[in-house]
Amino acid sequence: MKTSSLKKVNDNLISENPLKLKFNALNYPSWILSDRQLCDIELLINGAFSPLKGFMNSIDYKSVLDDMRLSNGSLWPIPITLDVTKNFSKSLKCNDKITLRDKEGFIIAVLIINDIFEPDLYEEAKLVYGTNDSIHPSVSYLGNKSNPVYIGGDVEGLQLPHHYDYKNLRHSPKELKRIFREKGWNKIVAFQTRNPLHRAHFEMTMNSMEDLDANILIHPVVGMTKPGDVNHYTRVRCYKHVMDKYPEGKAFLSLLPLAMRMGGPREALWHALIRKNYGCTHLVVGRDHAGPGNDKNGNPFYGPYDAQELLLKYKDEIGIEMVPFKFMVYLPEENSYKAIDEVENGVDYKTISGTELRDLLNKGEDIPEWFSYPEVAIELKKSQPPVSQRGLTIFFTGLSGSGKSTIANGLMVKLLEDGGKPITLLDGDLVRTHLSSELGFSKEHRSINIQRIGYVASEITKNGGIAICAPIAPYNIDREINRDMISRYGNYIEIFVNTPLEKCEERDSKGLYALARKGIIKEFTGISDPYEEPKDADIVINSSGVSPEILVNDVYQKIKNLGYIS
Ligand code: PPS
Repeated sequence: MKTSSLKKVNDNLISENPLKLKFNALNYPSWILSDRQLCDIELLINGAFSPLKGFMNSIDYKSVLDDMRLSNGSLWPIPITLDVTKNFSKSLKCNDKITLRDKEGFIIAVLIINDIFEPDLYEEAKLVYGTNDSIHPSVSYLGNKSNPVYIGGDVEGLQLPHHYDYKNLRHSPKELKRIFREKGWNKIVAFQTRNPLHRAHFEMTMNSMEDLDANILIHPVVGMTKPGDVNHYTRVRCYKHVMDKYPEGKAFLSLLPLAMRMGGPREALWHALIRKNYGCTHLVVGRDHAGPGNDKNGNPFYGPYDAQELLLKYKDEIGIEMVPFKFMVYLPEENSYKAIDEVENGVDYKTISGTELRDLLNKGEDIPEWFSYPEVAIELKKSQPPVSQRGLTIFFTGLSGSGKSTIANGLMVKLLEDGGKPITLLDGDLVRTHLSSELGFSKEHRSINIQRIGYVASEITKNGGIAICAPIAPYNIDREINRDMISRYGNYIEIFVNTPLEKCEERDSKGLYALARKGIIKEFTGISDPYEEPKDADIVINSSGVSPEILVNDVYQKIKNLGYIS
């Protein structure tokens, strides 16, 4: 039953008999779609992933990995797969149907199972992304988030996922093609982006419109982008400001709910196929298109022009033309922008890199008008206030009795004396009473506990407050997950209270070490359970022989020096 998931090319995969589909769907096992799967299914059923008719079976999957083609030969560079747990898959077989729901339980589609297989995720990472370095967001996704079983099969859509934001800026391929027809546009340059637009982008898109006598579709990704990117609400506000700058009737803005993979050249090819499905004739492809930055050794994952080269290689097959992005620079003398390759030798020019822009925002400095429109600068400043005004998580980790709680409490009082941001203390014992009372001390339970703390702290940080956490947090992986999650929303400091075990045991203020030595308390950290010492803590302190006041002051000063509190 493992045939290709490709059938005839369709506009979309929405059911022609939704009432019947919904009635039947209630009887099938349900799978709640992850964020990424929800993005994928939207583009599957709205036709943006045409010619795909569903999630890939093992034949198409393997063929995409090896040759960037579906088994019928069509070019398709990225695997589109439905990963599920072993537990969910174990009672399923081919020809069974499953109901795919969003997180709120709304039925999105029904999938007819065509294949159930266990992929080699390591091999997938290597073949699709060219690396097994987990700094690459998609490699990290495969290693840490993906479920181990893939289910392949065609899908029948009941409805597109609900979006409550920017409804009038979201269009299916069919709608967008109709809009282009109505406008009488037949040459359309798509501009893919996951960043705010600045003046250089505006000039570049204007140039391509003029050079090609075409119209422009600003087609930003609002599904999933690279962790740490400017959130899409801010970006859409910026895009709207920039749209006002284009000549009347020349440009159009539409949001694309794609889950990017940051897959460089393969991803660029994918972007091209998707934009073709939306009715575009050209796609702007820049330097390091969809690149995820540098690997663990500081080298870029992909060459700067790999994406352009791959698109050139397949140019006769893609069905859409590439417009190589011209890197635009500002010429202060002329107060205008020019493509860098047209700037004469010796002529002074200016640019601001992403890192430099982040730096300006971190310090609360002005973004020059030559670089960005003032309206855009205001949006960016609102969403990324200076470091000292952002939310903050101070995460203490260390053995029981190391002094975490004492220092955390002292620090809280000092910050309260200062006034300013609201403060929440998430001490180990407090959390165990109010949030995690059902949990024990197994590795699994400790992870749940620490990630709960991380989640609460991330919400506090996101909303501009200070979260002071003081659990033992013995495992690197949980601390890393928290750091990653919280840093997206604000500042994060890890403080390792490195008081030696002997000292903690000597203190034994709760009498727990004595019980642990006798074996009455099992899995006790430092005695019968591990503590993985942090290697990348921002601050390390040792509370033996130093008064709590001195330590609190020391930590307070260090946080101040980092610029996190003013
Ligand atoms: S963890 O590993 O981070 O989830 O632990 P945590 O929630 O911080 O632990 C809270 C307090 O529980 C007491 N306690 C134990 N600690 C370690 N191991 C075992 N088996 C254990 N059983 C109880 C201990 O007093 C912790 O509080 P602190 O403030 O660290 O002394």
